[in-house]
Amino acid sequence: MSLLQVNNLGVEFQTGDGAVFAVNGVSFALERGKTLGIVGESGSGKSQTVLAMMGLLAKNGRASGEALYNGQNLLAMKTAELNKIRGNRVAMIFQDPMTSLNPYLTVERQMTEVLELHKGMSRREAKKRAIELLEAVRIPEAARRISMYPHEFSGGMRQRVMIAMALLTEPEVLIADEPTTALDVTVQAQILALLKELQRDFGTAIVMITHDLGVVAGLCEQVMVMYGGRVMEQGAADDLFYRPTHPYTIGLLGALPRLDHEAAELVSIPGNPPNMARLPKGCPFSERCGFADARCVNELPALSPDGAVLRACHRPSVQVMKQGEMTHA
Ligand SMILES: Nc1ncnc2c1ncn2[C@@H]1O[C@H](COP(=O)(O)OP(=O)(O)OP(=O)(O)O)[C@@H](O)[C@H]1O
Ligand SMILES: [Mg+2]
Repeated sequence: MSLLQVNNLGVEFQTGDGAVFAVNGVSFALERGKTLGIVGESGSGKSQTVLAMMGLLAKNGRASGEALYNGQNLLAMKTAELNKIRGNRVAMIFQDPMTSLNPYLTVERQMTEVLELHKGMSRREAKKRAIELLEAVRIPEAARRISMYPHEFSGGMRQRVMIAMALLTEPEVLIADEPTTALDVTVQAQILALLKELQRDFGTAIVMITHDLGVVAGLCEQVMVMYGGRVMEQGAADDLFYRPTHPYTIGLLGALPRLDHEAAELVSIPGNPPNMARLPKGCPFSERCGFADARCVNELPALSPDGAVLRACHRPSVQVMKQGEMTHA
């Protein structure tokens, strides 16, 4: 049994503009100590996928399908039951650390409270453990700094404090939603190296949401590429990134600055992500896809096995690769 098994997850929002299907038919499995990357442009449904799993959708949202954690369906749990798991066995970190840190309490108070509550530790034991974790995420002078307030830390340090907070309960799953997007490149690299190291030491499984493919390549074994609330392509990171065959994945990779080129050039996929309330009836990417034909516009492609990966595309991968070679020659 997988640690986390998501089956046919869907998210629907009721809006004044009609129903918005923000996530459709997402399925994946995550094993202990492994990392799954979820990538895609803004609005593709990455955050809503994980928020649905954690029971954190906005009031107008409804989740369907299953999210099994150790075989128990998180989506069917009562709040009290779910609270024993989230923030404890399954923890989440966000782009903005202030969404999980309380600005009015010292880091010490916030960390020891969690340990007293979830681990039944005494204040003294809790403080010792909290300092150890701050040291583990490389906060210099942790024993002194633990008595500071969140705003007294720099952005990168605050991100580390948030990671230490998330690790307090030794979660089996850590869900990270763009945890380094707001940080500069050097700090970003340090935080990612840290997550990798912590994963090795604690055996934590990670779901990493990012629009940075460099992050995925360095950290994830499995990848799910989302667009318009659907999975476009899914499989092992090596298969997806070194032999991409889905036009959207190819587009995302094309949007990566190439280090092997003399002048790193940033090209993006032409056009904009779709209006989720007005999705085309066929493939959501068809409007922007250089490979699309009439069938793509009219008929939704199913996510199905293609070589080593799962792929949702009407155009056979060999054709896409041939046409791609011709246009790039
Ligand atoms: N409360 C809501 N009501 C209606 N639509 C919503 C609501 N919350 C999110 N959505 C829509 O759901 C879609 C998916 O949003 P989601 O937050 O998952 O995107 P994302 O892939 O995480 O993007 P980003 O990279 O910008 O964080 C978006 O089109 C968004 O507008
Ligand atoms: Mg998001």
